[in-house]
Amino acid sequence: MKIFKSFKILNKEIDFNESIGFVPTMGTLHNGHLSLIKVAKKKSKKVLVSIFINPTQFNNKKDFLEYPRNINKDILALKKLKVNYLFLPHKNEIYKKGTPKKINISLNDKILCSKYRKGHFEGVLAVVDRLMSEIRAKYIFFGEKDFQQVYLIKKYLKKIHKTKIITCKTIRNKNKLALSSRNLLLSQKLISKCEQISKNLFHYKNKILKDFKNIVLLNEYKLKIMMLCDKVEYFEIRNSINLSKRFSKKNFRIFIAYKQKGIRLIDNI
Ligand code: PAF
Repeated sequence: MKIFKSFKILNKEIDFNESIGFVPTMGTLHNGHLSLIKVAKKKSKKVLVSIFINPTQFNNKKDFLEYPRNINKDILALKKLKVNYLFLPHKNEIYKKGTPKKINISLNDKILCSKYRKGHFEGVLAVVDRLMSEIRAKYIFFGEKDFQQVYLIKKYLKKIHKTKIITCKTIRNKNKLALSSRNLLLSQKLISKCEQISKNLFHYKNKILKDFKNIVLLNEYKLKIMMLCDKVEYFEIRNSINLSKRFSKKNFRIFIAYKQKGIRLIDNI
């Protein structure tokens, strides 16, 4: 596996006329990331993974400093999967003079996570735009767990770059908890509570699928979930195409963000 730290050398060494699949990450790789890499391997000739904990997408300095870091373990996992290239940039390489640290989003998009993590997606869009400008891969892969992130990347960056954006399904543990690097920060007791929250989400979704009238049970489920965590930031149903509040049986999706001992977790089904 070739490791690059600068765009210049990466662009010298990689032939982007070949079909290259790109998986951007912030490291502490779990099976969710590994499944993105496996999909990328199937779809492309060569795979490039980036690991960069982007400071501009953290609205809270403490969250940035405490974000898990496991670079040696990550490199081993990537080598085991026979990933061809790893990009490990320093923040000065990403945010060279003149590179925007944020890309503005419209007021309409300041919903769900964007309402609670001010400036977060603006930072995500800036780093993904920078990466996509320099890494002209055929495909870029994102997980559906970050549904709003992929929605905004498609909305704001799809027209600017040629790279095809591929969304891959959320990977869950055997008790339906969505895999996340942040799960590493939780005790087993809290993981069990999160698993019960996930079970409630699936239970609620199945009830609605059986009878759409069960949508009215939103507050009932919210109360159950509130008993299992410190705080529910949002628990909402939205249209899965445009994230508006106008949805039908065919296009609804449940979104949640909650906190366990200061650790923020998200999910959508
Ligand atoms: O989803 C993530 O891990 C990050 O938001 C991303 C897309 C790598 C940008 O920093």
